[in-house]
Amino acid sequence: RPRVLSGIQPTSGSFHMGNYLGAVRQWVALQETHDAFYMVVDLHALTLPQDPRELRANTRLAAAQLLATGLDPERCTLFVQSHVPEHAQLSWVMECMTGFGEASRMTQFKDKSSRHGADRTSVGLFTYPILQVADILLYQADQVPVGEDQRQHIELTRNIAERFNGRYGETFTVPEPYILRETAKIFDLQDPTVKMSKSSSSPKGIIDLLDDPKASAKKIKSAVTDTGSEIRFDPEQKPGVSNLLTILATLTDVTVAEVEQKYAGKGYGALKTDLAEVVSEWAAPFSARTREYLDDPETLDSLLAEGAEKARSVAAETLAQAYDKVGLLPGK
Ligand code: TYM
Repeated sequence: RPRVLSGIQPTSGSFHMGNYLGAVRQWVALQETHDAFYMVVDLHALTLPQDPRELRANTRLAAAQLLATGLDPERCTLFVQSHVPEHAQLSWVMECMTGFGEASRMTQFKDKSSRHGADRTSVGLFTYPILQVADILLYQADQVPVGEDQRQHIELTRNIAERFNGRYGETFTVPEPYILRETAKIFDLQDPTVKMSKSSSSPKGIIDLLDDPKASAKKIKSAVTDTGSEIRFDPEQKPGVSNLLTILATLTDVTVAEVEQKYAGKGYGALKTDLAEVVSEWAAPFSARTREYLDDPETLDSLLAEGAEKARSVAAETLAQAYDKVGLLPGK
């Protein structure tokens, strides 16, 4: 079985529709066909200031949401990044393999650091993509299911893996991004030219998966649509409508063309009403399942402990190889 690995940050509380359609939905499908490793990347969350108690709660919340979307610990390895110390350990080796200029070209860093200002930008935010490189290479992942915004980080991972292999001999699998074209980028409801994002969208632009269905319905109904009245998938001319069509089609498991056909001759209002309904039907059981997992933190923590143990057995072996290749003296 080919291997996949991916991660999600625990910082946002509720996941949003972009996280789900762009990434997590694929994770659920891939656990059936792949040897799958999925993690809550709490170390990545530390790149921005976090309240310790909130971070801990959000890490459990993220794990609960992942289980609620259908990740099954019998079919995949689900764990918390900091429970596997090898991530931080390999990261250092990878930092030493990465050029300063190369790291400086990461667009997510440029965006985030410009929002926070130089004084409030940590070195961790700068090296963040390199920790991600370590995350991926530790598991010898063949594919990495993510949204479009992560493509550059996977490209960096490929470059560093090739560099390491070239310098020290075949060690790491060079991973491919696994990005589905249709859902690679879900857009902000209020500004359908930018991605839906907790850090940059206004709350009205985001469909939170744990939102009250009424709140989501309201956001969907006030989504910015386009001039004209025709319902047509046309991301250039009609980004707002196209985004709604994408979300509706994916959640109902049909093609965009089919949805387009269904709404031919109907108004934007009908599309929004139906989408609100579909989102609420999806989100209600999701929220209920998330709550069930949260209500039993002992079971949740023990699932995560088992996941970490499985992950660690793979990660430790890769780290030992990498340490050996670069010439670190084995301890004991
Ligand atoms: P994060 O936590 O920002 O996002 C989690 C996943 O959601 C995807 N995503 C989107 N997809 C489509 N449309 C959107 N509007 C949208 N917003 C978010 C992201 O692409 C991502 O797949 N650096 C990563 C976490 C990470 C990771 C890894 C991923 C750490 N280590 C190793 C893969 C492999 C991040 O911050 O994702």
